Amino acid sequence: MSTLGSRALVALLPVVAAFGACTVDEPLRPRGDGPAVARAMGFFARERASDPLVEARRAYERDALFREARFVDAVAPGHLFDSTRIDEAAIESGSIGVDTLWQIGAQLFHHELSPAEGLGGADLPFPRRFHSGFRGGPDATSCASCHWRGGMAGAGDGADQAYLQGDGDRASSALPRDPISLVGAGYVELAAREMSAELAAQREALAAFAKATGRVARAPIRAKGVEFGVLSVDSEGRVDPLELVGVDADLVVRPFGHKGSFSSLRDAVEDALLVHHGLQTSHLVAARPRIVAKLGPYPADDPDGDGVVDEITEGQLSALTAFVAMTEVPIEDVPDSPLVSVSMLAEGRARFVAIGCASCHVPTLELASTRWALPSRTGGAPLVVELDREGADPKLRPRATDGRYALSLYSDLKRHDMGESLAERRSDRGVPSAQFVTRPLWGLAASAPYLHDGRAPTIHEAIILHDGEAREARDAYVALGEAGQAPLRVFLQSLTRAPTYTVR
Ligand code: HEC
Ligand code: HEC
Repeated sequence: MSTLGSRALVALLPVVAAFGACTVDEPLRPRGDGPAVARAMGFFARERASDPLVEARRAYERDALFREARFVDAVAPGHLFDSTRIDEAAIESGSIGVDTLWQIGAQLFHHELSPAEGLGGADLPFPRRFHSGFRGGPDATSCASCHWRGGMAGAGDGADQAYLQGDGDRASSALPRDPISLVGAGYVELAAREMSAELAAQREALAAFAKATGRVARAPIRAKGVEFGVLSVDSEGRVDPLELVGVDADLVVRPFGHKGSFSSLRDAVEDALLVHHGLQTSHLVAARPRIVAKLGPYPADDPDGDGVVDEITEGQLSALTAFVAMTEVPIEDVPDSPLVSVSMLAEGRARFVAIGCASCHVPTLELASTRWALPSRTGGAPLVVELDREGADPKLRPRATDGRYALSLYSDLKRHDMGESLAERRSDRGVPSAQFVTRPLWGLAASAPYLHDGRAPTIHEAIILHDGEAREARDAYVALGEAGQAPLRVFLQSLTRAPTYTVR
């Protein structure tokens, strides 16, 4: 056994090294022996061949590579994690190719973390199912353990729920949340940024008017056709948020998290690293004096006291964020089946609009640009990715007529009051208990279970459980009866993800 094992390893080491297209092809060595070397390993593909046979063969090749690499990690523990230790300065200098960056981000997303790599903390037993305040679990060994359903970076099942902001002990103290599919997250961030910019421009215009006239200026505000209530600005530029609807007083659209907690994908990713894995970014640790409760009681450079410093570098965070931002867009697809006719699909789509679903689940948002930029936090140049050319397949393509983009998101990226029956036990970070961001329905069929706490096993249940502002639309759905609901469900089933090949 041991002879065979070592012979096989000798044979596979050069294979893995050969895939290190990134920085250096150095011999592998145990962790702690010199600086870590970032490498794109070739486990994950950003592009898809149109021929399914080619895709299937590539899936086998990638899987073989991945299996081998795990043995390398057994010989030199930490090797796989070190392969994600990419240098932020190198990213900002533009010397790292987009594919390398994506691969390294994907490696980190799928990597099963160990305590030696910073998983958990001295005072945090692993796993801790119910989070303790904003410090979190840790509740999982990898991002992919919750984000997998429907394909890479997908949704999660009921067992993958996160129990946020609890007392560390009881389910009843926490806020149960269903893992959200991350597909198309970069495009969503861009749409939200464009909307925030539109709203800010309206605030500036009102402020200028108020200043010029010396009176309070008051007007309805909207972005990408979505109405956000009425904004009042006085002659001093002070904003009265009382009549705003579905957005915070700062007019920043926050699409991430069920409650709309983050506008920035990087902030959401940084928070996920902390609360699910106890991995503290160097950036958060530097801000520690302000956020002790979030990081832990131990000394400055290792606030969670696990003996690992510099757990996640800025470069690793950038790569992980870029990977999430570059994920594919979902597709709309129905099988070629006599049961599902084209007219049925069209009927369902029309019903969706007619009964009021589309008032919140806005079918398309116009996007001006798919140029995704991650601003540097270390004073360097931003990392820029052109998602329509450099994102993972399938990508969002520009319209031939005007070069703009139609984002088929089925969301207004706005918070709505969904009524007492869907409300959580308390508010979250200032957002009232019954308010949730309109869940985008793209990729819906590949993301069960549904609603913020996964209480709806099927799409039908999810609709039936709508309440509050969505009560009327829900009642209209019920009133359709079985024959009228079927086409609507067929349409919703057509919102899915492109098929992928995975070897298990
Ligand atoms: C224990 C399960 C779990 C793990 C592990 C996990 N997530 Fe999540 N993720 C969730 C849940 C639940 C939400 C919704 C949270 C909320 O409502 O605020 C979420 C939301 C997100 C979002 C916001 C998506 C959106 O469109 O609103 C991002 C981005 C994200 N996770 C990235 C990650 C990354 C990166 C990792 C690994 C570092 C990770 N997650 C690990 C469960 C998990
Ligand atoms: C007032 C706005 C509003 C209207 C109208 C509305 N929805 Fe929703 N929808 C939401 C919000 C907000 C959520 C997220 C609720 C939650 O997470 O608990 C949601 C969630 C969903 C989900 C679950 C998605 C998931 O991934 O969990 C489905 C399916 C859905 N809506 C379909 C519909 C259909 C079909 C209609 C029309 C009958 C409709 N909605 C009308 C706001 C609305």
